[in-house]
Amino acid sequence: MSEPTHLAATASAPSNIAFLKYWGNVNEGLRLPYNPSLSMNLDAATTTTTVRFDPGLNVDSLSIDDEARRGAALTRVGQHLDHIRARADISHRAHVRSHNTFPMGTGIASSASAFAALTVAATAAAGLPLDEKVQSAIARRGSGSAARSVPDGFVAWRAAARSEDSFAESIHPPDHWDLRDLVAVVSHAHKEVGSGGGHALAAASPFFAARQRHLLGRYLAMRDALAARDLAALGPLIEAEALELHAIAMTSRPPVLYWDGATVALLNATRRWRDEGLAVYFTLDAGPNVHLLCEAHDADDLERALQARGDVERVLHNRPAYGARLVAPSAAA
Ligand code: DP6
Repeated sequence: MSEPTHLAATASAPSNIAFLKYWGNVNEGLRLPYNPSLSMNLDAATTTTTVRFDPGLNVDSLSIDDEARRGAALTRVGQHLDHIRARADISHRAHVRSHNTFPMGTGIASSASAFAALTVAATAAAGLPLDEKVQSAIARRGSGSAARSVPDGFVAWRAAARSEDSFAESIHPPDHWDLRDLVAVVSHAHKEVGSGGGHALAAASPFFAARQRHLLGRYLAMRDALAARDLAALGPLIEAEALELHAIAMTSRPPVLYWDGATVALLNATRRWRDEGLAVYFTLDAGPNVHLLCEAHDADDLERALQARGDVERVLHNRPAYGARLVAPSAAA
């Protein structure tokens, strides 16, 4: 066993919103996805995590937002640390302290920022070299979408047969395009079926094979629209993709319905606002909250329209963000 040189490190990572979605794994254990995906990192939805390996500890410990966590959350973090410990050839257990700037389990991808921050902090604390592709592939094993929270800005995650080849890369820096993602939070309730359950059921939908056949075309069209900063081209592709993800979930066996009434009302409102001249498009993750995408010059109008509604509890206004970074421990709060 080699001794780690650092033992403790703190990292911060953004959540991300997928334009082209990860939904279903070829290999569940390794989280190797069926298809590539595309996303934007979110600056107002971040996780900051400190990992401290401690030779005096017998078991890993975890706190999230100052609450001690055991059970499934601790097991998942412990398994992720086991993988990093094996790579670094160390055996120390760790204290993991994590803080989020957004509510967990609501369709804002808390596992993406959580496992990206955990990976970057734990690999640094274990003394492993900081290679972005390797870190992205490691983060992926903790939560698929976390692979995309490691690189900067607008990101593509490769689908590949080998674990080391399925990592995410930046395709544009955050300042490529001042696109905004206003998350309309309609529910803080923890979702009943996590995205893990949804991935396992996805291929049971009779429409899953058809989705896979046309996804590559959508992926290439989205990359072109993103490169050209063309929201009129990108927006309809993003909406079609979000509805398709939920169509797959709703037709899985058993079916999964993530929406509630406010979700549907907001999808209809988006179309109405667009008819009235506001260039806004929706997307959704595995939850009831609605992500509304627009350009910077429309963001204030959109935020006002959302705040005026009775069914929106809170609006989270995101700009494109850098990926995961090591930070000074004092930033861990
Ligand atoms: C609908 O990455 O949360 O947000 O790998 O089981 O942690 P696990 O799943 P997760 O799935 C995200 C699903 C999604 C689409 C996406 O972000 O691409």
